[in-house]
Amino acid sequence: MNALVIYDSTFGNTEQVARAIAKTLEQRGSVRLMRISKAQAADVEAIDLVVVGCPTQRRKATPAVQAFLDSVPRGSLQGLSTAAFDTRYRKSRLLTGSAARGIAKGLREAGTSLLVPPESFFVVGREGPLEEGELERAADWTRQLLEKPQT
Ligand SMILES: Cc1cc2nc3c(=O)[nH]c(=O)nc-3n(C[C@H](O)[C@H](O)[C@H](O)COP(=O)(O)O)c2cc1C
Repeated sequence: MNALVIYDSTFGNTEQVARAIAKTLEQRGSVRLMRISKAQAADVEAIDLVVVGCPTQRRKATPAVQAFLDSVPRGSLQGLSTAAFDTRYRKSRLLTGSAARGIAKGLREAGTSLLVPPESFFVVGREGPLEEGELERAADWTRQLLEKPQT
């Protein structure tokens, strides 16, 4: 399996989650971990699974991630398996918003199949740290998505 983990991170917390996800995926095949600023739509060619995550900022995905999703032509990634995650505050999603839900919407519009629902990992404050146990939860979430049949 060829997997790609694309992430954005301002203070490093989402990067830590992305690394935990990539490390878990490595048990199944080859994995590239890529910061969003380096990612292009062509990077997802010949990839079996793409995981995209970023911090929730102003209730949604970061501008870089939104621009990336906008650059992928509608329906062009038909059949690609994907998953979306974010980091945010542990409060009602109605208050915080969720980048992962926006990412999931963009991935669906691109034609991909989301293997699991979008997931959030929680930070204690704006600059972090992550709540205790979140990296283990990220690894568990990754194992759950590996159990799903890939498209
Ligand atoms: C400009 C800005 C806006 C933010 N807006 C939200 C928000 O709407 N909802 C939320 O839950 N967290 C918000 N946060 C907190 C971020 O989600 C938090 O900084 C992030 O999870 C840390 O991840 P990072 O270290 O990868 O940047 C905001 C943070 C910044 C810097």
